[in-house]
Amino acid sequence: MASSQSLLLLLSLSTLLLLLVAAEAATAPGPTPPPPLNLTDILVKGGQYATFLRLLNETQYGAQLQSQLNTSYDGFTVFAPSDNAFQKLKQGTLNNLNSQQQVQLIQYQVLPKYYTFATFQTASNPVPTQASGSDGVYTVNVTGAPTGQQVNVSTGVMETRINNALYSAFPLSVYAADDVLLPYALFGAKPPAAAASPPPAASAEKPKKGDQSAAEGPSTKENSGSYKGRVMGWGFVVGMVAMVGIVL
Ligand SMILES: *[C@@H]1O[C@H](CO)[C@@H](O)[C@H](O)[C@H]1NC(C)=O
Ligand SMILES: *[C@@H]1O[C@H](CO)[C@@H](O)[C@H](O)[C@H]1NC(C)=O
Ligand SMILES: *[C@@H]1O[C@H](CO)[C@@H](O)[C@H](O)[C@H]1NC(C)=O
Ligand SMILES: *[C@@H]1O[C@H](CO)[C@@H](O)[C@H](O)[C@H]1NC(C)=O
Ligand SMILES: *[C@@H]1O[C@H](CO)[C@@H](O)[C@H](O)[C@H]1NC(C)=O
Repeated sequence: MASSQSLLLLLSLSTLLLLLVAAEAATAPGPTPPPPLNLTDILVKGGQYATFLRLLNETQYGAQLQSQLNTSYDGFTVFAPSDNAFQKLKQGTLNNLNSQQQVQLIQYQVLPKYYTFATFQTASNPVPTQASGSDGVYTVNVTGAPTGQQVNVSTGVMETRINNALYSAFPLSVYAADDVLLPYALFGAKPPAAAASPPPAASAEKPKKGDQSAAEGPSTKENSGSYKGRVMGWGFVVGMVAMVGIVL
């Protein structure tokens, strides 16, 4: 009698065990991936960036930037010139640039670092752009306003005021710009000789270390949470077994 009771107990215990394992497998929380960050989408939703979108596509720089977003440690800041900003340019400005210079112009609108209005205030000038090489040309100067919700960007040729973010969450800030930033190297009164030298495009693509740590932060936490849950589940089973042992 006693032995059939303990057999029954053992059977129900193993059933309980199987159920627990199955339940855990079913409810194991997969880290929910964030919606993919898409620069094209942000600009399309902005509604007035058709020219910038076309140039990002034609120069293929848009695809390059998009693919760098995932792996960038510092993030990016894009000053997106509106269609109106391109219309304000002197006629033929874009057509007078060769295709390499067009790439440089587009890269010049992008900073290889994520800035908010707050962190702009502490940026140290001159600030490199995606068109900057080791020679230090193609930089911009940023000047924050004390109010903290706007910043002036100057190139040595022109200056524009930025006060509207289309998107801002690490690793990407996209700001609405009423002017195309014109690099001194291409549009200065006396372009320095450096403007004629080959572009430093390759240097902007060097992969950075420690890329994934920021992105994986939350999911690692979730995993450790589910690990804790598992440990607690097994603790419960072991406790049950111990109790049954005492009863028997
Ligand atoms: C971004 O969105 C555009 C249009 O919605 C789409 O064509 C493109 O494939 C997307 N790119 C990525 C990297 O998801
Ligand atoms: C992007 O440019 C390619 C040619 O380089 C063209 O075939 C494609 O239609 C363009 N896409 C958009 C959305 O303009
Ligand atoms: C970037 O990450 C998204 C998900 O966050 C993924 O769908 C996409 O394939 C990744 N792209 C690259 C180029 O790694
Ligand atoms: C940018 O700032 C640096 C450092 O303050 C200064 O030397 C340089 O003249 C400035 N350039 C322009 C174009 O304002
Ligand atoms: C910022 O730039 C605008 C031109 O867009 C200019 O009118 C204004 O004076 C600048 N402000 C500062 C503080 O330099």
